[in-house]
Amino acid sequence: MTPPVTTRATAPEILARCRALVRPALTQAVRRLHPWPAEMAAFSLGWSEVGGRPVPGPGGAGSHGKGVRQALTVLGAEAAGGSGADAVAGAVAVELIHTFSLLHDDIMDGDETRRQRPSVWKAYGTGPAVLAGDALFALAVETLADSRNVHSGAAVRHLAGTLNDLVRGQAEDLLFEARPWTGPEAVSPGEYRTMAGHKTGALLGCAAGLGAVLAGAPAATADTLTRAGRHLGVAFQAVDDVLGIWGDPRVTGKPVHGDLRRRKKTYPVLAAVSADGPGARELVALLASGDALDDADARRAAALVEEAGGRRAALAEAHRQLDRARGCLESVPLEPAAVGDLRTLVPFLVDRAV
Ligand code: IPE
Ligand code: MG
Ligand code: MG
Repeated sequence: MTPPVTTRATAPEILARCRALVRPALTQAVRRLHPWPAEMAAFSLGWSEVGGRPVPGPGGAGSHGKGVRQALTVLGAEAAGGSGADAVAGAVAVELIHTFSLLHDDIMDGDETRRQRPSVWKAYGTGPAVLAGDALFALAVETLADSRNVHSGAAVRHLAGTLNDLVRGQAEDLLFEARPWTGPEAVSPGEYRTMAGHKTGALLGCAAGLGAVLAGAPAATADTLTRAGRHLGVAFQAVDDVLGIWGDPRVTGKPVHGDLRRRKKTYPVLAAVSADGPGARELVALLASGDALDDADARRAAALVEEAGGRRAALAEAHRQLDRARGCLESVPLEPAAVGDLRTLVPFLVDRAV
C-alpha cells in the first residue's frame, strides 16, 4: 500500500494563513484610532500612501512585513491545543506593538527609509510619528484588555513585562553606541545577546507565549513557547545585523551600510573586532576615528568585517539560537501540526540572509 501523501505548508503559506486570520481584526483596531494617527499607522503597515490613498493590490494587500509575530501568536495558541481564533486579539496586539516600536526606532536611529518607503517621521514629521507610536502602543493594550477571551487579564500581564524588556533593549542598544570598541569597556558578545534578547527577543517571545496564554495553556507551556520565541528573536536580530551590512537594499528596504556608517555595535562587527587580527585592527581604526564614513570607507569596513569572520560568526550565533528554539519545542507536550508549522518557520527566518 502506498503511504498517504502528507503535504506540509511552506513558510510563506503559513504566514499568509495567519495574516488572513488576523487582518480583519487588525484593520478594525486601527479604525478605532483618531484619523491622523490612523493614517500614519496605515502608511506604516503598507496599507496606504501619505495622504491616506489606499495602496492597490489583492486583498487590500500592500501589507508590509511578513507578519512573523502575529503568526507566532496564532501558532502558539494552536501548539497549546487551542484554535488560532482564540489568539487573534493577541496577534493584533503584538503587530501593533511591533509597528509602534519601528516608528520610534526609526526616529532613534535616524533612519529615513523603511520597507522601501520613507519612514513615518520622514513622511509626517517627528512629533506626529512619536504620537502615532504612542497611539499604537495604547491601542495594543486596549485591544487585548477588551478582548472577550477569558484569559485576557493574564494576556495583558504577559504583554506588560515584554514592553519593559523592549524599552530596556532599546536603552542598551543606544548606550552601546558610546562604548569603546576595545578594552575592558568594550561590548561583549554576551552583552549583545542580552540586548538583542530584550529589543527583539522579548516581542517574539511574547508573541508565541501570548497565543498559549490566550488558549488557556498551563504556565509551563506558555513559558516554554516564550523562551522559544525569545531565541528566535535573537537569531532574527543577528540575521538583521548581517542584512544591514550585506543585504540587498531592494530586499531589505533600508539603505546599504546604514548601521556601519552609524558605527552601530552589531553582532558581525563586534565579532570581527574581537578577532584581533590585522584586519580587525584596521577595522577598529576606521570605526574609532571621529571622521564621517563615506561610501568607500563603509565598503572597506564591510570587507574587513567579512575577512575577520564577523558574518560567519553572526550566522553561527543565529543557528545556535534556532537550535535552542527547536529544543524548547521538544521540551513540553504540544500539538504536532502546529509544531510542524513552527519548525517550518524557524529556518525561514535565517535563510533571508543567504
Ligand atoms: C529594532 O532594532 C528593535 C525595535 C524596534 C524594538 P533595530 O534598530 O536593530 O532594527 P531595524 O534594523 O531598524 O529594523
Ligand atoms: Mg533601527
Ligand atoms: Mg534601533
